[in-house]
Amino acid sequence: MIKKKSLKTIASSLLLTLFVIQFIPLNRINPPETSPISAPGEVIAVLQKSCFDCHSHHTKWTRPAYVAPISWAISAKVAHARRALNFSKWNYAGANDDKARIEAMRKTVLGADQHQQLYYIANPQARLTAGERDLLLNWIKNFQREQQTEFKNSGNTPPGKRL
Ligand code: HEC
Repeated sequence: MIKKKSLKTIASSLLLTLFVIQFIPLNRINPPETSPISAPGEVIAVLQKSCFDCHSHHTKWTRPAYVAPISWAISAKVAHARRALNFSKWNYAGANDDKARIEAMRKTVLGADQHQQLYYIANPQARLTAGERDLLLNWIKNFQREQQTEFKNSGNTPPGKRL
């Protein structure tokens, strides 16, 4: 049986650990944007509302993001999300990557209820409304159509003669 005294010792070392880990530095910065996505204002507004916290350099680091160990999970999640898709570094990928990226976006927006459920439970104001989802899907469709045309045009241009 655990004695009362040892329970106290366990509790106080736990508290001490929780206190000490607060001082482990974390990468919670929002670096400057290198190439922000360009899209119509209303599309940007929707992305800002629902996606920028993880997929951009405009993360709003809320209070839990400052309390270890929750902060570790949050900053790791943002780092992971920025690697997967970053609206603040939009133009670095090649054309092929670009196609896969916009298609992944289409799928994510279509199945938005499955993406990052915990975040949207904690931040219900960030959820996409049906109208916002349609707006994004429409923009994505146009983007994909333009990619198609660019692809055809570039195929017809002899190498070395591209403008
Ligand atoms: C709470 C953070 C968070 C939010 C908010 C968020 N995402 Fe993500 N997203 C992630 C993480 C983490 C990944 C990488 C792991 C994964 O694929 O689930 C990711 C991956 C993705 C991918 C890549 C998927 C693939 O198959 O390559 C796309 C596209 C994406 N998110 C789109 C969006 C869009 C669009 C929104 C807004 C409507 C959004 N995300 C909101 C965290 C988030």
